[in-house]
Amino acid sequence: MGAGLDTTSASLAWMLWCTVLAGPDLWMRLRAEADDVLSGEGPFDETHLARLDLADRTMRETTRLHPAGSFSPRMAHVDVTIGGHRIPRGTLVMWSAHLAGRDPDAWPDPTSFDPDRFVDMAPERKALADIAWVPFGRGVRNCVGFALAQMELTLIIARLSQRLDIEATTPTKPLAVGMVVNRPDGGVPMRVNQRLHRPDVRR
Ligand code: HEM
Repeated sequence: MGAGLDTTSASLAWMLWCTVLAGPDLWMRLRAEADDVLSGEGPFDETHLARLDLADRTMRETTRLHPAGSFSPRMAHVDVTIGGHRIPRGTLVMWSAHLAGRDPDAWPDPTSFDPDRFVDMAPERKALADIAWVPFGRGVRNCVGFALAQMELTLIIARLSQRLDIEATTPTKPLAVGMVVNRPDGGVPMRVNQRLHRPDVRR
């Protein structure tokens, strides 16, 4: 329940908050993309998912800034030196996806929410970003649900933008709380209406 549900629902809440607060332009661009890719009768498959580029970047930007797991432990199995720090075998090391996602060496203007930052990255910037984007961990003990979670978040934001008009009821960003899963305190209060003018899209 904790690994599979709380993480994804907390990320979805953060994604809605960030996307809606980014202003109507992003919502309309997501909607245009979803109308283009997810129109008609389907069935839809991974080729459609691959074309939800902006929705994918919105998911990546949200999980960069608000990784559901803020930090995670590792135990050093051998003596190792990282960044000039000697770490003896047996040491408990805490690494943080939250800090890596906000590292100014990897991310220009790190605290701003900008799904377009992933577009046309210079190779050296992309190499750093690939290392510093670790909301699902890395290595042999990374998240087993990472593909499912990314697919869910990408599809859900695309579908919500297609079906709903959403506005935040307060501009105050919720506090991040939670010992294990980083979630917005009190949820993300929104006013939700059905989309007024819909093209002929599949529900
Ligand atoms: C946005 C959603 C999610 C996020 C941000 C997330 C994040 C993480 C992180 C950071 C880890 C630890 C990785 C490490 O230490 O290197 C992890 C482990 C794990 N996750 Fe996820 N996760 C998500 C969704 C899911 C889903 C949907 C499932 C299952 C369907 C899942 C199952 C697991 C399991 C079983 C582990 C433990 C893996 C191991 O220790 O070998 N997670 N997750």
